[in-house]
Amino acid sequence: MWPPLHGLCSLSRTGGAMAALLKLSRRGDNANVRPSTRSAGLSAHTCEALLFRKHGDPPRVVRLEDIDLPPMGAKDVLVKILAAPINPSDINMIQGTYSILPDLPAVGGNEGVAQVLEVGSRVTSLKTGDWVIPRDTGLGTWRTEAVLAEDDVISLPNDIPLLSAATLGVNPCTAFRMLSDFEHLKPGDTVIQNAANSGVGQAVIQIAAARGVNTINVIRDRSEFTQLSDRLKAIGATHVIKEEALRRPEMKELFKTCPKPKLALNGVGGKSATELLRHLQIGGSMVTYGGMAKQPVTVPVSALIFKDVKVRGFWVTQWKRDHSNDERAFRAMLDELCSLIQQGKLTAPACSEVGLKDYNKALEVAMTPFTSAKQVLIM
Ligand SMILES: NC(=O)c1ccc[n+]([C@@H]2O[C@H](COP(=O)([O-])OP(=O)(O)OC[C@H]3O[C@@H](n4cnc5c(N)ncnc54)[C@H](OP(=O)(O)O)[C@@H]3O)[C@@H](O)[C@H]2O)c1
Repeated sequence: MWPPLHGLCSLSRTGGAMAALLKLSRRGDNANVRPSTRSAGLSAHTCEALLFRKHGDPPRVVRLEDIDLPPMGAKDVLVKILAAPINPSDINMIQGTYSILPDLPAVGGNEGVAQVLEVGSRVTSLKTGDWVIPRDTGLGTWRTEAVLAEDDVISLPNDIPLLSAATLGVNPCTAFRMLSDFEHLKPGDTVIQNAANSGVGQAVIQIAAARGVNTINVIRDRSEFTQLSDRLKAIGATHVIKEEALRRPEMKELFKTCPKPKLALNGVGGKSATELLRHLQIGGSMVTYGGMAKQPVTVPVSALIFKDVKVRGFWVTQWKRDHSNDERAFRAMLDELCSLIQQGKLTAPACSEVGLKDYNKALEVAMTPFTSAKQVLIM
């Protein structure tokens, strides 16, 4: 989970992340989330959406409501949302603890895949039938339809599996950037990561395997450890170990089969992050991208003095903003990821598909530890 950063709320007023949400809002008093005033049978301009009017416990504050769609502009597209996952950041946004927060009321969800139903007269990059995903955080994807600016979305090939498309824009992009931007990894090198069964972790395993890079994958112990370990090995994990093993002598045996890691990826924080650091090569990097344990990262002095490790952070939203004027960078990454999907080298994380009406159950499950399956709302 992300640490509370309420002070950054104002980003939602100034930053690009909330641009789409705010743009829709400016169309008329939160037109994107205005409860429907239309009578039954005249629903052509309404959609169903999972709305939160205040921050709090997601199953308590999220409601399925009919909302009006704003009128289409010349540079807009009408889309039907096909599928949208429930990610930890969505939960944090509803709880009010994420680093950027929308104005309320807001539609939940930041990721998903949609199909273009209609294009405005001045839309040039999209056509009816195209699949699109959000370019940025804050679009409010837990809804059946939306009117969006052409620039709010980017197209994907529509011959990839629905669940891969629905979960492509955040976790695989995060994994891709972290494996590309911090250390020069060659075939035979090693990456160590915790939360290896997370959406990010599963993408890391597969992208690394496609590049010939070894992965040491740390997961929390559980009764079905062996099944989970087998599942991660089946998608390319080199080693799967329990958190406790990081402190044990058996790690020496493991490093007889692969070099010490150049890169550690930390989605947990606390002790787990400290233990990852202990195994890094001299001069290696640890990149923190999540804090599921809600504990700070402690860096042993020896790791800094004797190993000169680099302690870094990564936020895919910031990367997308930094590259918002460079369409080619985002497009090149998506093309490479989609190519891996088409070759069968990158599959969606383990998912449970849930109908929109069963959102409450999906939210509960998404917040339950040891779930090992991403909840994906099917519209
Ligand atoms: N910085 C970025 O740009 C970026 C991008 C994407 C995601 N993220 C962050 O990355 C993290 C993972 O996201 P995701 O969508 O991949 O998650 P996910 O698929 O929902 O999986 C959650 C993961 O967190 C683990 N976990 C939960 N509570 C834990 C705890 N107390 N200690 C250790 N592990 C725990 C789970 O392990 P169990 O199975 O053992 O419960 C599971 O591996 C989140 O913090 C998310 O916000 C950051």
